[in-house]
Amino acid sequence: MRWVGRKGRLERIGNEFNIPHPLPDHPAVLVAGIGDNGLTVAKVVMTLSVPGPAESRLRERCELEILGEILAPERYWESIRGADALLPQLRDRIDDAALDAAGPGLRVVSNYAVGLDNVDIPACTARGIYVGHTPDVLTDATADLAMTLLLSAARRVVESDREMREGRYLGWRPDYLLGQEVTGATLGLIGFGRIGKAVARRAAGGFAMRILAYDPAGVVRSGELEVEDCSLERLLVESDFVSCHLPLTEETHHLIGEVELTSMRRSAILINTSRGPIIDEAALVHALSTGVIAGAGLDVYEREPEMAEGLAQCFTAVLLPHLGSATWKTRAAMGELAARNILNVLDGGTPIAWANPEVTPRR
Ligand code: GLV
Ligand code: GLV
Repeated sequence: MRWVGRKGRLERIGNEFNIPHPLPDHPAVLVAGIGDNGLTVAKVVMTLSVPGPAESRLRERCELEILGEILAPERYWESIRGADALLPQLRDRIDDAALDAAGPGLRVVSNYAVGLDNVDIPACTARGIYVGHTPDVLTDATADLAMTLLLSAARRVVESDREMREGRYLGWRPDYLLGQEVTGATLGLIGFGRIGKAVARRAAGGFAMRILAYDPAGVVRSGELEVEDCSLERLLVESDFVSCHLPLTEETHHLIGEVELTSMRRSAILINTSRGPIIDEAALVHALSTGVIAGAGLDVYEREPEMAEGLAQCFTAVLLPHLGSATWKTRAAMGELAARNILNVLDGGTPIAWANPEVTPRR
């Protein structure tokens, strides 16, 4: 994928999204320290290096500081003092204390993630700070990974790989390592936003799956997709596979707990590529180890990087270390979008993708 700038627009070539973007006609005068050439330059603090052109884009125009590690809050606060823009990771907590530490010059927080549960959006809005993030560019990679987990858990790929490596494969047998059929099965999507829809397209188009969807914000059908809008209760009872694609909020915390797991089929498989705390992980360990459900595919955990006790011993769970957007192409596109979100604001515009349109920006 490439970003192609034309006057007044930025178009992403290579998929369906064309995001309008006001490019500045004149170089911006950025308010901050004085650079070598006498022009003022903005200070941008980025937590970790990212693949792709983001850093060089920002360096051309700003004083870019890369912290190189996730710092404890006090050290993070120290290092962002006087920043005009932040480019945090999902492990940085951007709350009142961080915003106070950054000071009155901070104009934009551009999260290197689509999820914004690490950012106190109302606190940013109250201070006139834009909250940027990286939707769309990671939709396909994350949907691909959800399908990877679904297929791997259904066909017991990780257990089977172990059989081979440990020399336990003694020859083909009719009843050896049987899993769940994917083609034609019913997939229940909890959350039907960009990523949920992208999973639905893969599952319906590639695997002839019947799609049920529940979204607290309402299910909006897109295009040709046949999707049945249903309650969470019915979705859990009827689905062979359940996949979570919701943002983490107070309402979605532990949305799937013991009661929900118990209502699922014994042959069902639960997938989560969104945020760990949406599932009560201890309840999931219990459900997996007592055969309440047949398996799980997890990319996210309640207390990353830790796992709930006993989860590592649940061999019907496929466990990945938060890799939804982890392709070279997507991580570079996320960086580019996060950098452009910042540069747009420093130029007096709005981010390309941002979560608080109600903000009255600081000047
Ligand atoms: C990753 O988890 C993201 O929110 O982008
Ligand atoms: C399996 O390998 C088959 O040929 O059915």
